[in-house]
Amino acid sequence: MFDLSGRVAVVTGASRGIGESSARVLDSAGAQVVLSGRTVSDLERVAADLTNSPVVIPCDLSQQGAGTQLAGEILDQVQGVDVLVNNAGIPMRRMPEKLTEEEIDLVFAINVRSLLTLSIGLADSMKARGGGSIINVSSVAGIRGPGARVAYAGTKGAVDAMTRALASDWGPDGIRVNSIAPGLIATAIWEESRNTVPGLIEDLEGQIALKRWGFGDDIADVVMFFASDASRYVTGETLAVDGGLARVTASAQPQVLPELLE
Ligand SMILES: NC(=O)c1ccc[n+]([C@@H]2O[C@H](COP(=O)([O-])OP(=O)(O)OC[C@H]3O[C@@H](n4cnc5c(N)ncnc54)[C@H](OP(=O)(O)O)[C@@H]3O)[C@@H](O)[C@H]2O)c1
Repeated sequence: MFDLSGRVAVVTGASRGIGESSARVLDSAGAQVVLSGRTVSDLERVAADLTNSPVVIPCDLSQQGAGTQLAGEILDQVQGVDVLVNNAGIPMRRMPEKLTEEEIDLVFAINVRSLLTLSIGLADSMKARGGGSIINVSSVAGIRGPGARVAYAGTKGAVDAMTRALASDWGPDGIRVNSIAPGLIATAIWEESRNTVPGLIEDLEGQIALKRWGFGDDIADVVMFFASDASRYVTGETLAVDGGLARVTASAQPQVLPELLE
């Protein structure tokens, strides 16, 4: 059920973090993986470990037209696409009053516009192959109301909304569209905040029911679920993969509860 032999999977932001883990898991399941991102050396480092004829296609998704152009380059190099993991994204931690229009445009260009245009550019290929699976990486930031992240949260809420809308548009063609909302995953995306916001990391960790940060593999295994036939009757869903950050009230002192029940 989790065998992806003969399938082609595109992963954006495959040069590190969640995208790297996803590329590795999809390759290990038998898929040919197309890796995209800006940093060619990192893409080639990941591709060197993959076994099913990986393809590296660099792209800067902040540019106008980039998603459409990337789709064309992908279809020039592989027979067709079955799985698309729209993972590339940037953070934007700013109080609203400090946000510039350039920053708002940048985070929406990468996290929203290119995700949509790449999906559109690859949809016909999926239809021609009888369907496919699009997996959008959103965030718990689109579910909770996070502080100092209005632009980023807006992009991720948009991703979840587009996930449902595309699931409606392309369901009749056999294309499933789902999103994964990661919680706190230990990747480079946290480097700036870790260094500039004192106490933030510890404060957030206290809000996680499972009391630990996540890792790339925690997300990649769910990417695998959505890519595979195991999720064949699931579309238009957003699955929080967050150790219970978005929807579970984490108790700081779980030992208090049994005493209350006595
Ligand atoms: N880590 C978390 O806690 C967390 C939580 C919720 C959601 N997410 C989401 O998960 C996704 C992956 O994040 P991550 O944590 O793995 O972060 P990361 O380690 O910073 O990786 C981000 C990836 O996106 C690529 N990227 C960034 N800007 C790009 C651009 N202009 N054009 C093309 N590719 C670009 C990067 O590659 P290059 O730099 O080589 O271009 C990199 O491969 C993002 O959408 C993020 O919003 C992460």
